[in-house]
Amino acid sequence: MSTLLHLRAAGTSLVLDLADQLLPVVRHWGADLGELGEDELQALALAGWVARGDSPFDRADQVSMLPEHARGWLGRPGVEGSRAGRDWSPAFRTSGEAPATVTTEADGTRRVVVRGGDACAYLEVELELELHPGGLLRTRTTLTNTGEEVYDLGALRTTLPVPERATELLDFAGRHTMERVPQRQPFDIGAHSREVRTGRTGLDAVHLLCAGEPGFGFGSGQVWAVHLGWSGNQTTYAERLFNGSRVLGSGERLEHGEVRIGAGERVTTPWLYAAHGTGLDEVAGRFHAWLRSRPQHPARPRPVTINNWEATYFDHDLARLTDLVDRGARVGAERFVLDDGWFGGRRDDTTSLGDWVVSEDAWPDGLDPLIEHVHAAGMEFGLWVEPEMVSLDSDLARAHPEWIFAAGGRRGLESRQQHVLDLGHPGAYAHVRDQLTALLDRYAIAYLKWDHNRYLNDAGHTPGGEPGVRAHTLAVYRLMDELLAAHPGLEIESCSAGGGRVDLGVLERTVRVWASDCIDPLERQQIQRGTMLLVPPELVGTHVASRESHTTGRRHDLDFRAGTALWGHLGIEWDLATCSEEELTELSHWVAFHTSHRELLHTGRVVNGDHHDDATWVHGTVAQDRSEALYQVASLRRPDTTGPHRVRLPGLDPAVRYRVTLESPGQDPLPAGLGVVPWAVDGITLTGRLLAEAGLPVQPTDPEHSQIWRAVAVGGSGGATPRMTA
Ligand code: GLA
Repeated sequence: MSTLLHLRAAGTSLVLDLADQLLPVVRHWGADLGELGEDELQALALAGWVARGDSPFDRADQVSMLPEHARGWLGRPGVEGSRAGRDWSPAFRTSGEAPATVTTEADGTRRVVVRGGDACAYLEVELELELHPGGLLRTRTTLTNTGEEVYDLGALRTTLPVPERATELLDFAGRHTMERVPQRQPFDIGAHSREVRTGRTGLDAVHLLCAGEPGFGFGSGQVWAVHLGWSGNQTTYAERLFNGSRVLGSGERLEHGEVRIGAGERVTTPWLYAAHGTGLDEVAGRFHAWLRSRPQHPARPRPVTINNWEATYFDHDLARLTDLVDRGARVGAERFVLDDGWFGGRRDDTTSLGDWVVSEDAWPDGLDPLIEHVHAAGMEFGLWVEPEMVSLDSDLARAHPEWIFAAGGRRGLESRQQHVLDLGHPGAYAHVRDQLTALLDRYAIAYLKWDHNRYLNDAGHTPGGEPGVRAHTLAVYRLMDELLAAHPGLEIESCSAGGGRVDLGVLERTVRVWASDCIDPLERQQIQRGTMLLVPPELVGTHVASRESHTTGRRHDLDFRAGTALWGHLGIEWDLATCSEEELTELSHWVAFHTSHRELLHTGRVVNGDHHDDATWVHGTVAQDRSEALYQVASLRRPDTTGPHRVRLPGLDPAVRYRVTLESPGQDPLPAGLGVVPWAVDGITLTGRLLAEAGLPVQPTDPEHSQIWRAVAVGGSGGATPRMTA
């Protein structure tokens, strides 16, 4: 077998070198290299060696995906740990004869498994690597202790190299009600390291760590990106060394003593996902293609949801809620979600988390009257839960204070007047599982909105206080898996004070993420754009809220609120009892517009415009066959200059002619009192090339309004097959 492996998929090439019994060295990860013979691969491998004087060591080995200090890697090593100070610098060797197993899965995924061992350090590793047909790469590592003494693991992380022309970094930060704030910086020497110590992915999550060519955008510049599929503590970093090496890496962040690998035991990292593309949209497309290809990806249309949270909050009055159900049904909602406040003594947010039993006080006849009403209105029923949390004022905390996380003899700091239940504790796990199971067995609950509203702090197992985040995170996954297995058809949403748990670990068992507690469409432009770089739109909750935003106090007309919510898994979170007839009618038109285009919106390719200024943003969804597309052209602020402001439409087939129309899902065909751009009156037909290169002038609107444009192929010299005509 050759020691060089060339894997190719959808425009991506990965060349692995397994020579010299080393763990895989990445010779190339990036654009497709075409068919390469053994000679060319050998030449590529040779080209990876630098002149002797340029290497810090006389004869340093090449550096693998699990970088080893012992082989001359000067940055963060893949394995950190020891046995009371010994075996801290392992050097792994593969078997040499058959260094890798290479298989092709039924769906075309190419899978490589490489095993190596260090007989002196008594450690073995197994590296798994998969290249999906859509070009997404994922890898994880298992470390086994073959010695007799415990191995104290400090870190286990995998890296991927990026070329020297990747000089810029992009990742994300944020806070409550303002998730996915992008930050850019030069890829300088040293490490740009994002550490999560708060026990959940985070409202400020790194989300995607990208390195790219100078000025890379949504449609241009080569980009390499990584994401760790994990909902607990983690470190994701970009590291550049003086010798020119640049890597992107990630792994769990472990506390001292958190992972002690006993004799014969093993530990496996979460999957590290990676994608290369020309522009961020291509990178996002690879993540979307992979997520959509999984068997658990929802097959049925995403039901338009109405959630009572910003409508009635803790007021669980049956008459008020059934009225909301009726109004929701009238505007086209298909699922009703009852939010916080239905259990125990929970009439506000100070109490009762952990007591997952329907409140007799608020619901004297149980949830039946509401659920029956929801079903009669033709909707399915969903329920909010926060299973990992506990209020000190709860039956649970009174009965089992030892199940609450604590370290150093004290409970962690209180947050939102609640604490965290240690689901790594078998008793706590069984309690929550049994209460949730009883609810799911008793009521026709199609959907759980699974919330997690606080940071973890001093998250130690009682009584000793050993670090518990890892075990807790794995227990949450196990609990979701167990509930899903026992209740076929059940769906779970990942909510965490908004978008605090958006990652591909939790998305293995959830079908929706709540992007943010902020539903202000101006803020949502950025939040959704960032979120959808990783998560396809059908898995992102996007709601229409009231005219005045509950989180920012800004006021927006429905064209901007609904025009911004249209793109994801649509919902309504608005007290419809306060709406006028006109508003309800207008809202129902938006919902109907969404449902009539839902297939396109939930299967298409997400595209974003590279804007010359920040005043006007454009994004859209293009059918996979490029036969049609929808775009939102959003005016975020007044432009610095008067028009004409042209917007270029990305993603269409350059050779195909498209009819572009200005859609008016609400009532007004065009904003009143303003001039109308001529093309918008009856639409216009142009090729995809012209639309991408020259664009169209924007219909002038006031700031914080938006318009929906639709492009439908009307023929051309090939490529798309029109499915609909103008
Ligand atoms: C969190 C969620 C909200 C809502 C409340 C209920 O903030 O993000 O959507 O469910 O909790 O307490």
